Amino acid sequence: MDLEKHSKVPTKRPKGCSCQSPTLVILFTLTPLLVLLLFRIQSFTFSTPSGSTSWEFFQKWTAITIDSTTDHSCSDRLGNLTAKLRESVTFLPLKDLRYADMEAAMSGNTWFMSSLSDTVEENEAEHLYFPSQGSKGRILCIKGRDSKDGSKNSYALAWPESLPESATLLEGLSFVSDTYYDYLNLWHGLYAVAPFVGWSMKNQCLKPTRWVLFHWGELRSKMGAWAQNLMRATYGDVAVEVFRGGGDGPYCFERAVVMRHNIENMGKKKRVQVSEQLRCKAREFCGINTSSKGNEVNERGELVVNMTLLMRRGSRSFKNASAVVNVFTRECERVDGCALSVVQSEDLSFCDQVRVMTYTDIVATPHGAQLTNMLFMEPGSRVMEFFPRGWLELAGIGRHAHRWTAELCGMIHEGTYWEPLGTKDCPNPHQDLDCFLFYKDGQVGHNETFFAEWTRDVLSRVRESKLEEAKKRLQPKRTTCIC
Ligand SMILES: *[C@@H]1O[C@H](CO)[C@@H](O)[C@H](O)[C@H]1NC(C)=O
Ligand SMILES: *[C@@H]1O[C@H](CO)[C@@H](O)[C@H](O)[C@H]1NC(C)=O
Ligand SMILES: *[C@@H]1O[C@H](CO)[C@@H](O)[C@H](O)[C@H]1NC(C)=O
Ligand SMILES: *[C@@H]1O[C@H](CO)[C@@H](O)[C@H](O)[C@H]1NC(C)=O
Ligand SMILES: *[C@@H]1O[C@H](CO)[C@@H](O)[C@H](O)[C@H]1NC(C)=O
Repeated sequence: MDLEKHSKVPTKRPKGCSCQSPTLVILFTLTPLLVLLLFRIQSFTFSTPSGSTSWEFFQKWTAITIDSTTDHSCSDRLGNLTAKLRESVTFLPLKDLRYADMEAAMSGNTWFMSSLSDTVEENEAEHLYFPSQGSKGRILCIKGRDSKDGSKNSYALAWPESLPESATLLEGLSFVSDTYYDYLNLWHGLYAVAPFVGWSMKNQCLKPTRWVLFHWGELRSKMGAWAQNLMRATYGDVAVEVFRGGGDGPYCFERAVVMRHNIENMGKKKRVQVSEQLRCKAREFCGINTSSKGNEVNERGELVVNMTLLMRRGSRSFKNASAVVNVFTRECERVDGCALSVVQSEDLSFCDQVRVMTYTDIVATPHGAQLTNMLFMEPGSRVMEFFPRGWLELAGIGRHAHRWTAELCGMIHEGTYWEPLGTKDCPNPHQDLDCFLFYKDGQVGHNETFFAEWTRDVLSRVRESKLEEAKKRLQPKRTTCIC
């Protein structure tokens, strides 16, 4: 950009401007800064140390605009400058195709609003906030209705006083999310919404007026029922913006928080706090009061250990469910105070899921999104996970998803059963991905010996830790949520 040429503007005092007020002199001597400012709108750099100067200038400049309304020529000129600012708002594609391949997207780059750098705070998820000092007071505007191609949607920053032509201002606080995955699956949904909950916990428990959801920069119109219920429990009604209410122009957000890395950089301590908040809100929403839940004993005076077999239908269900139920029933009967529930995950409403998990010390279930419900268990509860053939050998890091959930929620992952692969019988044995897709949704077989021994071990560990806890003086339970 030919900055030099533009910088000369103030030396050529325009003829015909009769204003002599000292404020206007300030305006003219500061014009190079204005030009710089215009330049920055286009380059979108974010971390210039001189930012505050421009910002102060901008404030002065807007003050002048108000002061000089009596002088027509001046207000004309300032009006013209405002019009120029309005015109200079530059929209860039929401999805930057330079980072479109998976590897680039996964290695710290982001294709979503790629020109803007995140705010990094210790222990917190990386985020962007508008308007802020970093954005020099500018707010976020989005033209983003395309649900198929993220590079057709675009974004820009603009000052509220000079929003682009035909912009619609959306008032209040907007949570703008982009995820590499989706909002329908429980697990991916949780990972997408959790950073916003972390942000509001740090910021006076602020609630969003609306959500704006993207996946690869493509607009999404809803969350899955589970994530939506979780957010309803946390914040009240969930409104997802689809940019249809106003005109066809851009939509600008009075205040916006943008998250685009899920919980990637959120510290361990913060993760536990966020899950505590979500658990607390979900229980409150579902009318579950756990204040009396402690080291319960049954009618025979035995310490209660509740174990739940969470079943699935179809993909990754047990091949022989009744055989599996038999093994767990037998092992549970051997242990004083053990009670087994067998529950079909698909049949549970959101609050049923919260209730079942609240009263479970051990959940045993095939790998699947239903296990995300471990969020609602008491911290320190146990998880047993079962995988069908091929997952150990072919699934990559995805097979650890629920170990991560356990860490997020403060649960103990008691390990996994991997059904042995045996001979690879997939159509293309040398193509790992093809082969994995062949096995991915298979059913889970069982090994009675392994299941029985494992269940026995886990039950004995849970009993031990419950007895241990019963000896300690019980801390009164917190009944109110952090937010
Ligand atoms: C402002 O713009 C209008 C039309 O664009 C022009 O006629 C007018 O002279 C400008 N005023 C000043 C003070 O530059
Ligand atoms: C939960 O129940 C206890 C007593 O059982 C009561 O003191 C407390 O207020 C209840 N909490 C809520 C949030 O209703
Ligand atoms: C399932 O397991 C039970 C008990 O081990 C066995 O009796 C039954 O034949 C099995 N059913 C099938 C379809 O394999
Ligand atoms: C075990 O389950 C029963 C029945 O759902 C429930 O009343 C009890 O509170 C549960 N105990 C624990 C420790 O979760
Ligand atoms: C079943 O599990 C037991 C105990 O882990 C193991 O020794 C045995 O080889 C397994 N059987 C099969 C068929 O995998």
